[in-house]
Amino acid sequence: MGREPILSVDDYLARHESKDLLRFITCGSVDDGKSTLLGRLLYDTKVLFDDQLAALEGDSLRHGTQNGELDFALLVDGLSAEREQGITIDVAYRFFTTERRKFIVADCPGHEQYTRNMATGASTADLAVVLIDARKGVLTQTRRHTYIAALLGIRHVLLAVNKMDLVGYDEATFRAIETEYAALAAGMGIAQVTAIPVSALRGENVSARATAMPWFDGPSLLEHLETVAITPPAQTPGFRLPVQWVCRPDQNFRGYAGPVVAGSIAPGDEVVVLPGGARSRVARIVTADGDRKQATAGDAVTLTLEDERDISRGDVIAAAGDPPQVADQFAAHLLWMDESALLPGRGYWLKIGTRTVGAQVTEIKHKVDVNTQEELAAKRLELNEVGYCNLSLDQPVAFEPYATCRELGAFILIDRQTNATVGAGTLDFALRRADNIHWQHLDIDRAARARLKGQAPACLWFTGLSGSGKSTVANLVEKRLFAMGRHTYLLDGDNVRHGLNRDLGFTSEDRVENIRRVAEVAKLMVDAGLIVLVSFISPFRSERRMARELFAPGEFHEVFVDTPLAVCEARDVKGLYAKARAGSIKNFTGIDSPYEVPEAAEVHLQGGEEAPEQLAERVIRELLGEH
Ligand code: ADX
Repeated sequence: MGREPILSVDDYLARHESKDLLRFITCGSVDDGKSTLLGRLLYDTKVLFDDQLAALEGDSLRHGTQNGELDFALLVDGLSAEREQGITIDVAYRFFTTERRKFIVADCPGHEQYTRNMATGASTADLAVVLIDARKGVLTQTRRHTYIAALLGIRHVLLAVNKMDLVGYDEATFRAIETEYAALAAGMGIAQVTAIPVSALRGENVSARATAMPWFDGPSLLEHLETVAITPPAQTPGFRLPVQWVCRPDQNFRGYAGPVVAGSIAPGDEVVVLPGGARSRVARIVTADGDRKQATAGDAVTLTLEDERDISRGDVIAAAGDPPQVADQFAAHLLWMDESALLPGRGYWLKIGTRTVGAQVTEIKHKVDVNTQEELAAKRLELNEVGYCNLSLDQPVAFEPYATCRELGAFILIDRQTNATVGAGTLDFALRRADNIHWQHLDIDRAARARLKGQAPACLWFTGLSGSGKSTVANLVEKRLFAMGRHTYLLDGDNVRHGLNRDLGFTSEDRVENIRRVAEVAKLMVDAGLIVLVSFISPFRSERRMARELFAPGEFHEVFVDTPLAVCEARDVKGLYAKARAGSIKNFTGIDSPYEVPEAAEVHLQGGEEAPEQLAERVIRELLGEH
C-alpha cells in the first residue's frame, strides 16, 4: 500500500478538462473518522486501483477493526503514516472525479503540531470539510481548524457531523452541533456553512443519501461537493501575471513567462510592469500550442510586449487601468513553522508571487491562540504560532490583499542561512506611514566629512563571549588610532545598555534589537566620517550579517575575539559566570544562551593565547595595514 492511488495532477486534469474543479481540504483527526470518511469517498467514486483494493481487503482482514469488512481508515492512514514522520510540510493530495465535477482533496493531519500542514492544504482550497464526532460536539480542535481555514481564505465549510450511528441518529444532537458551529464560523468570517449528519462507517450520507435519518432532507456529502457554488472573492482584480522567467531564445524574441493569477488579457491591451511602473501593450500571447487571442486566470503563458522594457523575474505585469498596489510595509498574519522562533528585527527572505526580497517583522502586534482566538501579547513567535505583524521589506513589491487574490497576497519567509521555509503569511493591507517620509538631501555628504577628517571611515565590529577581552582590545585599538590622529568612537555593549538600550534584556529577541540599534548608530557614525569600534557580544550570525549589510563593501570589519569559554569563565572579571552557573542570571551567553561562532571574520584573534596589546597590534596591522 505504498503508492498514491491516482494519476499525476497533469494527467488527471487533462482527462477531465471540461468539468469544473473543486479543491477542498479535510480537517479532523482519525478519531473523528476522517480517514474512514475519505476512504469511503474514494472507494465509492471508484478511484482506487484494483491492486490497492486487493491490498485493502487483505489489510482489513488482518488488522481491520470492522470484522472483516473493508476498513477505509487503513487505506488513508497507511498512505500517510510515513509522510507524517518527515519534517517537511507534507499534505497528501488525492484526486477523484464524478460525472459532475473533479476534485482535489488535501488531506492534512489534524493535531496542533500539524498546523502548518493544514495551512498548506488550506491555502489552495475552496472549501473545508470540518469533521465533528457527534458524541463530542464542537471541540477546541474544531475552533482551530475553522480559524486556520478562515485565515487562509476559505469561505465555505461543509460541517460533517460524523458517527451519527453512535448517537442513535438523533436529530436534536445534530441540530445542537449545527447551531453552535454556525455561530463560531460566522464570527470568523466563514460565509457559508452546510451541516450534514453522516455515518462514514455505515456509508450514511457520504455518497448516497441516508436511509437511517429520514428527518434530514439535505444532500449527501458528495452531492453537496458536486453542486456547491464557489463564489470568487468579491473584488476580483484585473489582469496580473507575476513573471517567472524571461525567455530570450534569440535576439528577436523576448517573452515574459508566468501564470495568469487574475483577470484576463488580449493582444493590444495596455499593461504596466510593477514595481517599476513601465508601460506598454501586449503584442502576442504565446503558448506551446501556438498564439492565443486571450489568456485568463489559471493559464500559464508567455507575453511579448510592443516596446522593449527592462523586465525581470519577480516583476508583475498588470492591467494598466487597474494595477495592484506597490508597497514595502504591510500588516500581515504570519504562521511560524520553524523550531527556532521568529524574532522581530531579524532578516529573512520573503517570497511573494515570483519575487524574493529581504524582509523583517518590525513588530508583533499580537499573537493569536489558534485554539481560542484569544489575542495575546508576544515578543516572538514559536513553532505553529500565528501572529498579526508589521512587515518591512527591503524593496517595494506589487501585491494584493490576500482576501482579493491569494497568489499576490500570500508570502513565505525563508531562513537566510538554512534556506528553509520558516513562515507563511497573508498580506492584509499596506502600511502607508512611510509614504510621507522622504529622504532629505544634505549638501555635506559622507565623502566630504571623511575628507575633512583625512581618513577612510570604517566600522570595526568586535564579537566574542563576555569576558573574552573584546572591550579591552577595542579600547587599546582606539587608543592607538587616536594616537595616530584618527577620529574614532567606541560603542561598548555595557555602556550603550545604560542609555539607548536601557530597555533591553538578554532574551534572543532583545539581543536582536540591541544589535539592530547599535548597528544603525554605527552606520550613522561612519556616515559622519568616524572610525567606529563596536564591542558587543553579538552572539547571532544573522544580526552580524545584518550589521555588515548596512555598510559599503570593505567598510565593515568583523573581529572575532575567540577566547575559549573556560578561559572567560576562569577570568570572570564581573562575577557574572558564577551567577549564571548558580542559576541567578538566565540566558547567559555560553551557558544557557548560544554563541554562534563567526564563519568569515576579517580578523580572528586567539583571545586566550596572546596579551591584549599584541591582539590590538594585530588588529591595526591586519585591518589598516599600519604600524
Ligand atoms: S549582546 O548579546 O546583546 O550583544 P551585550 O554585548 O550588549 O550583549 O552585553 C553583554 C554584557 O552584558 C556582558 O559583557 C555582561 O557584562 C552583561 N550581561 C548581563 N547579563 C548577561 C547575559 N545574560 N548574557 C550575556 N551578558 C550579560
